[in-house]
Amino acid sequence: MEITIIPIHKADEELPFFQENSSVGFGTSQFIQKEGELFLYIGLGENKLTFEDVRFLGGICRKALYKMKDAAVRINYQAIVNRSLNLQISETIICFMEGWYLANYQFRPYKKEEEKLSTLAVHWEEKRFKDWEQEAYTRATAVNFARDLCNEPANKLTPTSYAQYLRKMFKDTDVVVEIIEGDALSKRDFPGINAVSKGSSEPAKLAILTLNRQSDKEKVALVGKGVTFDSGGINAKTASDIGEMKMDMGGSAAVAGAMKLLADTDASVNVVAILPLVQNLADGNAFLPSDVIQYPNGLHVEVGNTDAEGRLILADGLLYAQSVGAKTIIDIATLTGSIGSALGLKAAGVFSNAEEDLWQYKKLGDETGDYIWPMPVYDDYIHYLKSDAADVNNMSSSQFGGAITAALFLKQFIEPDKKWIHIDMANTVRPWKVQGYYVQGASGYGVRLLYEIVKQKTLGN
Ligand code: BES
Ligand code: MG
Ligand code: ZN
Repeated sequence: MEITIIPIHKADEELPFFQENSSVGFGTSQFIQKEGELFLYIGLGENKLTFEDVRFLGGICRKALYKMKDAAVRINYQAIVNRSLNLQISETIICFMEGWYLANYQFRPYKKEEEKLSTLAVHWEEKRFKDWEQEAYTRATAVNFARDLCNEPANKLTPTSYAQYLRKMFKDTDVVVEIIEGDALSKRDFPGINAVSKGSSEPAKLAILTLNRQSDKEKVALVGKGVTFDSGGINAKTASDIGEMKMDMGGSAAVAGAMKLLADTDASVNVVAILPLVQNLADGNAFLPSDVIQYPNGLHVEVGNTDAEGRLILADGLLYAQSVGAKTIIDIATLTGSIGSALGLKAAGVFSNAEEDLWQYKKLGDETGDYIWPMPVYDDYIHYLKSDAADVNNMSSSQFGGAITAALFLKQFIEPDKKWIHIDMANTVRPWKVQGYYVQGASGYGVRLLYEIVKQKTLGN
């Protein structure tokens, strides 16, 4: 079977299902059979197409063809180029196929029936097109790797199995995987990781992934929150949808995916990824509200709330990043419910001690589809993190601005001469709406954004 995908923005007399001369709505699709050949018409809408629009078109076309078996597909990509906001042919094919491969994703390891999606061969006229398709495949594969990690249930993805998974994933790549565990972890100065993991019988791990292809470049660190399940600990969560908290390792998944993409694209970078992996549970050994822990930078922290665990383990990661010489430190975490109250579910929040850079990250978010919006870090709010017993409390005394006070807590662990970027993605670990190239389950948020930020930081210094 041959299928030709025809993007259109205005209907003509050839198209009986659309009103003639009407604009064909973005993403609306229609199959038409003509002389034994099948055509999939896909609407481009009235507006000029962005990168993300083209990815969505790829996803929508792939979804429309889910049931097709063994078909050969051709795409009239030129029609998309013509209706785009100055996209090159290369960019058009890469975005379209990225959306295609992202929509191809299914998480089915625990489902019985073998309802695998058909494989469709896309035909390209030129070798260059095939190369661009390959680039798209590499990008989507890294995002799907992050989706897999997030979608795994909490009994399958524990800190231990996570560490093994990372070892396996990076086995034949330039990424060196080191796992700090057991005595080496508990006896070293990682007070956050050691406190949070106390109430779980699953031992914590600290995964360090290093990709150094260019030692003369300044080192960039990526720190990702890896809470494989967050029950809240002694400050137990009560919500009925607590199963969501299996995705509380979404930040670490974004970092792992970005490392995979950097590795697979031969990016010339010097980057270290730091992934604290823990469960936040409560048994008789659990850490307690009122506990005071001391960090290697001398700071004492009072645990005002065991459910604010993310910032405690990230603080270990931030200090470690600086101790191994990173000059730019980017952390990413499903950190606060508050970020969703501030921004809704489409864009994550980005914070930095270099505020002037924030709009650059916003632009990279728009281009990659990992949307992000600038947020402030008001030093004045340190007032809310005052502790009677210690230097700082992990819990704010105000019910307002929780994403900002969380960021401010993290900032206490950053030396002034370091550049720090913090991404709170608690609201984007799932797609805000299952549409375009998004499917049920995790979004794979952050992989493409982190990849671009790391590349930009490497070029820029
Ligand atoms: N993992 C949660 C944040 C979260 C909330 C992620 C919703 C995804 C969806 C985090 O550890 C947490 O519990 N944060 C608390 C902080 C509070 C206790 C200061 C919150 O946001 O309520
Ligand atoms: Mg929590
Ligand atoms: Zn959490």
